[in-house]
Amino acid sequence: MGADSSKVALVSGSARGLGLAVARHLRARGERVHVTWRTDSAEARALREEFGPRAHRADLLAEHDAAGLARAVLQLDGRLDHAVHAVGEYVSGPLEETTRAEFARMLASNAESAFAFFDAVRPALRASRGRAVFFGTSGLAGLRARRRTAAYAAAKSALFVLVKSWAVEEAAHGVTVNLVSPGHVPHAHAHADTLDEQRLGAIPLGRAGTPEDVARAVAFLCSEEASYTTGTELLVSGGWLL
Ligand SMILES: NC(=O)c1ccc[n+]([C@@H]2O[C@H](COP(=O)([O-])OP(=O)(O)OC[C@H]3O[C@@H](n4cnc5c(N)ncnc54)[C@H](OP(=O)(O)O)[C@@H]3O)[C@@H](O)[C@H]2O)c1
Repeated sequence: MGADSSKVALVSGSARGLGLAVARHLRARGERVHVTWRTDSAEARALREEFGPRAHRADLLAEHDAAGLARAVLQLDGRLDHAVHAVGEYVSGPLEETTRAEFARMLASNAESAFAFFDAVRPALRASRGRAVFFGTSGLAGLRARRRTAAYAAAKSALFVLVKSWAVEEAAHGVTVNLVSPGHVPHAHAHADTLDEQRLGAIPLGRAGTPEDVARAVAFLCSEEASYTTGTELLVSGGWLL
C-alpha cells in the first residue's frame, strides 16, 4: 500500500481516539487529510495546529454542517477520495436502565450522523470513484443479544444495514462502502469499559487493540488492494465476540 499524494481524505470525529489515528495514518501515506472537531477543547486546538486549514468544525447532527464540510474539502482540494466517519457515541448498561433519550442518542450519533455524512460526500465520492468507511463494533454478526451494550449495538446494527445498502447502490458508480469494527481499543478519552479486565482477558489474541491497529485496517479499505471489497465488515477485535 504505497503513499499517494493525489488522494484527498476526510475523517470525521477526528479530534481524538480512533479518528485521529486514522487521519494521521492516511496523512503519513501521503494523502491530503481533512479532519473535524465538534467541541472546542485542548484536543481541538491541537488538531487545528496540526492540520491547519484542513481542520474543520462540524457537528454531523446539525442540519447543515455535513454539507458545509464537504463543500469546504472541495473548495480547498478540489476532490474527495476517502471518506471515513469515526463519529459514534457509546453507552453501556442493561436496557432496563437505559433511558429513551440515551437510546435516541445512540441511534442519532451512530446511524443518523452517518446518513448525513454519506449524503454530503456521495457526489464527490462518485466523481472520484472513491471509498467510504464507517465504524461498527465487534459482535454485530448474528444479531446477538447484549447484556450491557444493546442500545449501542442496535444502533451499530442499523448502520451496518445502511453500509451494505450503500455498497449496493454505489457499486455502479465505482464507490466502495465498508465497515470496520473494532473490539476494545483504549485511548486517552475512551470509555472505561475498554479497560475492563474481564473483557480484555477474554480477547483470544490476548491484548486490547490499538488505534494504529484500526488505522491500518481503514487504510487497507481505502487502498487499491481493496478495490473489489465492498459492503463488508472488517473486524479489528483480536477475535473478541466471534
Ligand atoms: N474505542 C473503542 O474501543 C471502540 C470500539 C468499538 C467501536 N468504536 C467506534 O469507533 C469510532 C471511534 O471511536 P473512539 O473511541 O475514537 O470515539 P471517541 O473517543 O468518542 O471520539 C469520537 C469523536 O467524535 C466526535 N463526535 C461525536 N459526535 C459527533 C457529532 N455529532 N459530530 C461531529 N463529531 C462528533 C467527538 O467529538 P467531541 O469531542 O466534540 O464530542 C469525538 O472527538 C466510534 O464510532 C466508536 O463507536 C470504538
